Parts: sequence; structure tokens; C-alpha cells
Amino acid sequence: MTGAPELGRPRLQLSPREFGRIREFLYERSGLFFAENKKYLLENRMSRLLEAAGATTVDEYLTLLASPARGRQALMELLDAVTTHETSFFRHRTQLEAFQRQVLPQLLEGLKARGRRSLRIWSAACSSGEEPYTLSMLILEALGPTLGGWDVRIYGTDIAQSMIRKAKEAEYTKYSFRGTSPYYAQKYFEVLGADRFRVKDEVRRLVEFGILNFADDLRMGRMRGFQAIFCRNALIYFDKPAKQKFVDHF
Ligand SMILES: C[S@@+](CC[C@H](N)C(=O)[O-])C[C@H]1O[C@@H](n2cnc3c(N)ncnc32)[C@H](O)[C@@H]1O
Repeated sequence: MTGAPELGRPRLQLSPREFGRIREFLYERSGLFFAENKKYLLENRMSRLLEAAGATTVDEYLTLLASPARGRQALMELLDAVTTHETSFFRHRTQLEAFQRQVLPQLLEGLKARGRRSLRIWSAACSSGEEPYTLSMLILEALGPTLGGWDVRIYGTDIAQSMIRKAKEAEYTKYSFRGTSPYYAQKYFEVLGADRFRVKDEVRRLVEFGILNFADDLRMGRMRGFQAIFCRNALIYFDKPAKQKFVDHF
């Protein structure tokens, strides 16, 4: 999402007290930290939500968020709106090259030496799925289309429900391919239209998606048994204590 206000809608103006309340609420529920200079961002992103909820003030909106009937869905929508989902296939070339050339071969060798043929990878805060699908393609390149007897699972999780929905659909436009070589684009995507591409089934088969909030200690505690965890461009949104708490789960 951009920081620009939506056309035709007056921007919400948060008073210092309202900003404090919503900021505290978001921090408590997700660890997301909005510094003073990010107030405009919350104002831009929350205007539509307040309007849709029929709330005229932030206090009313916070009451809705606390309500047993509508609170859960409203919270999901709020977290969806205030998070930044920028991503793309093959986003960090050097990291992925290191994974492909060094980390993955070592992992496979080590597991094989212990008589194990099961590989578990977690893409934590995967947004719309480009990162876990990229990892799936790299693993298919390493193991071949039949995986050579390996049992491979890649888990993609994110707090934003709309992103997980999009990830499961596995349909993308050219914008998501901005760092992708033609080799991977041609091999692992079906062309659906002029600017619509779907990740092929062989890539999708290895990946499973779910909504997961890093601040959910119980569910984070159950994320165990991974040989590699990718958590790129996500920890920047948290302060130091929250970062530490989340990373301790890894
Ligand atoms: C910029 S994207 C990074 C996507 C991908 N890892 C990449 O590097 O391309 C950051 C993601 O972090 C997610 N996120 C933010 N707060 C989160 C939280 N508390 N728990 C889980 N995911 C969170 C956002 O929804 C967003 O999709």
C-alpha cells in the first residue's frame, strides 16, 4: 500500500490521544510499532475501515474491535490494512544463491547422513506467497520433479488474511516477476492471460499456507522442526523487545 490518501475520501485525522490508543492496541495485538512519524500511515490506512464499520470516532472503532461478535473479523481487517505487503519472486538474489549453492546442499547431505529424507522450511511473514513459491522452485531444481524420494514441506505464514488468500490462489501479474529470470518464469508458471500467471501445480504441491501472528505465543510455540526459516523484511516493523520475543520462537 502507498502512503497517499485514497482519492475522494477525507483523510482521518488522529488526535494524539487517539493515535496513542490505536498504536498501543496494535502493539499489544501484533507487536507492530508505529512511531510518531508513521501517524499519517495509520490515518491513510484506517479511514476506509472506520467508514466501513460505521464508526465516526476511533473510540467507537476500538469498542467494535473489543466486541465479541465483530471484534475478531474487525481485528483481522485492521491488521490486513496496516501491514505492508511488498514482495516479489526471487527477491533477494544473493540470499537465494547462498541457499541454493551452500545451505540447501549441506542440509540435504546432513539429513541423508542421519538417514532422514524429510525437509521442512518456514517462510515466516510470506505476504502473498512469492517467497515460499520461490523456495519451492529452488528445491525442485535441486531434487528434480519427483524429489528423489524426499518428503518436502514449505510453510508460508502471514498475519494478513488477504495475502494468505492470494497466496493460495497462486495467481500473479508481471509485477511479481520483476526479479525473476526467464528460465524460472517459463518453467514454473502457466500463462492465464496478457498479465496473469499461475504457479504450476508441481510448485504449489510443496507449499502450505496459514494465517499466523508472530504475537500469538501459543501457535508460535508449535512451529517446530524446521531446517531453515526465512523471515525477510518483516522484523523491521517491530521494536527491539518484540523482535527478540519473535526470534526466540525460531
Ligand atoms: C514486506 S512483507 C515481507 C514479505 C516477504 N518475506 C519478502 O521478504 O518479500 C512483510 C510481511 O510481514 C507481515 N507481518 C507484519 N506483522 C506481522 C506479525 N505480527 N505476524 C506475522 N506477520 C506479520 C505483513 O503482513 C507482511 O506481509
